[in-house]
Amino acid sequence: MVTSDKLLENPKYRDYTVGGPESQLALAKGLANGQWFIPEIDRKTLRRLMQRDDWHALRDTCILFNLIFASGGAAYYYWTQGNYTLFAILFWIYCTLYTSSGDSRWHECGHSTAFKTKWMNDVLYNIASFMVLREPLVWRFSHARHHTDTDVVGRDPEIDGRPISMWQLFILFFNYQLIKSELGKIWLHARGELSPAEKTFVPYSERFHIFCQARIFLCIYLLAVFASVYWRSPLPAMYVLLPYTLGAWHFILLGVPQHAGLQHDVLDHRLNTRTIYLNPISAFIYWDMQYHLEHHMFPMVPYYNLRELHEILKPQMPKPYNSLWEVYREMIPALIRQSSDPDYYIEREVPAPLEQKQVVAAVSMTPDKDGWVAACTIEEVPKGELFRFDVGVQTYVVYHAVDDDKFYATAGKCTHGAGELSDGLITDNLIECPKHNGCFDFKTGEAKRLPVKINLATYPVKTEDDTVFVCVGDKGSRKKVQIAYEED
Ligand code: FES
Repeated sequence: MVTSDKLLENPKYRDYTVGGPESQLALAKGLANGQWFIPEIDRKTLRRLMQRDDWHALRDTCILFNLIFASGGAAYYYWTQGNYTLFAILFWIYCTLYTSSGDSRWHECGHSTAFKTKWMNDVLYNIASFMVLREPLVWRFSHARHHTDTDVVGRDPEIDGRPISMWQLFILFFNYQLIKSELGKIWLHARGELSPAEKTFVPYSERFHIFCQARIFLCIYLLAVFASVYWRSPLPAMYVLLPYTLGAWHFILLGVPQHAGLQHDVLDHRLNTRTIYLNPISAFIYWDMQYHLEHHMFPMVPYYNLRELHEILKPQMPKPYNSLWEVYREMIPALIRQSSDPDYYIEREVPAPLEQKQVVAAVSMTPDKDGWVAACTIEEVPKGELFRFDVGVQTYVVYHAVDDDKFYATAGKCTHGAGELSDGLITDNLIECPKHNGCFDFKTGEAKRLPVKINLATYPVKTEDDTVFVCVGDKGSRKKVQIAYEED
C-alpha cells in the first residue's frame, strides 16, 4: 500500500508510471490482468469463510472509537493542566489509533468485507479514508488495480518501487512522502483535474465525485485551521492534522513488509506477498491484515476469517514470518542490496504442489436453433446457489433466487475485470465478484457496487420438467458483454 511514485523521487531503475512504457511490456508478457496461482480449497469451506456478519466489525469499531475519544480526551485534559509529558504520550496514542487504525479500516471497508450491511461499510470507509488521508473514490479504484496487478511494474499504482534508500524509508515512518503526494493530489482534484495515471483506472463518470470529495477534504482542513485561529489554540489543527504524521508509523511498520524486497512481475502471490504473525494489540490495530497473502488470494474473505483461512492454506503456502523482527531482519538487507542491484529480490520457498485433483472440465453446450441450451437440472442449483455452464468460449451463470424461487442467468465474467462470477458470493439477489468485490443484481444485471460500472448481460430462463433452459443465442442475448477494465 505504498506507491512507487511516492517513495522514489528520482527513479533510477524502472519506470513505475502506471500506464507508462512498462505497462505495454506487462501487457505483452501477459502479466496485466493475468491468471494468478490459486491454491486448492474446498468450495464449500471457502463459501463459508466468505460469509460476513455485522457483529465483529461493530464490536471492533465501538472499541476503537472509544479508545480514540478516551486517549484524545485525556490528552486534552493534561494539556489544560499543563502536564505536557502526559499530554504528549496520550496524544501520540490518539494519533496512532486514529491514523494507523484508519488505514486498516479503510482497507477492509473498501473491500466491503467488514460488515454484512453495505451502508455500514460505506460509512466507515469514508470516515477511515479521511483518518488516513486518502480520497475515498480515487483510492477505491487504485486499490482494485493493486489486486489485479499486484507488484506488476507499470500496472500497480501501489507497488513498492525500487531502489529505496534507507533515508526514504526512515522519513516514510513520518508519512512524509504520502502526505506530500496526497495533498498535491487533493489540490489537483479540488481544481477539477486528474493525473495522467489516475485517468487509466478512474472511470470518467466518477470524476465529478472525486473533485467534490477533494473539496470537502480541503474545507475540513481549512475549518480546523480557522478554529485554531479563532480560539487562539493550536489544538483543533493539531487534532485533525498531526495524526497524519505522528500516527502513521504503525501502518507503515506493517504496510512496508507486505510486499517489499520480494519479486516483481510474477503471477503468484506466494512470491510477492507476506503473512506475518503479530501481537494482539498490533493485530487489532491492523484488523488482521497481517494475513496479507491469504487476503490477496481471496479478497472476499472478511478479516475475522483470515486466520482460519491461513490455517487451511498453510500446507500450500511459504513459511509465515513469526514476528516483525524476523521480517525486518530479512527485508532491510535486501532493500540495501537492491540500492546497488535493483534486480535482486528475496526468493520465497513454496511447497510442492498438492496432488492434482481430478478437474472436472466445464461441459460446453450447444444451443438449439432458437438459442436455448439445457444449462443444468433444478437439483443442481439449490436456493441461494449458482451454477456455471459454458457455450463455446463464453461462460454463463444460472442463479436460484431465494425470495421468489425463480431461476436467472447472466454472463459469467464480471464487466470490470473479467472476474469469474461463478466463484463469487450470493447475498440476497446480488452476486459479488471474487476479484475486487464489485456487485451486480443477478435478476437485472444492474451494477450495484463499485468498482463495477457496466451492467451485466442477462438471459431469458425457463424451466421444463427438472431442467433449467437458458437462451444464449442471438434472440436471447439482451446485451453484449462488455469488459470495462481499461475504461476511460
Ligand atoms: Fe473487478 Fe469484478 S473484476 S469487480
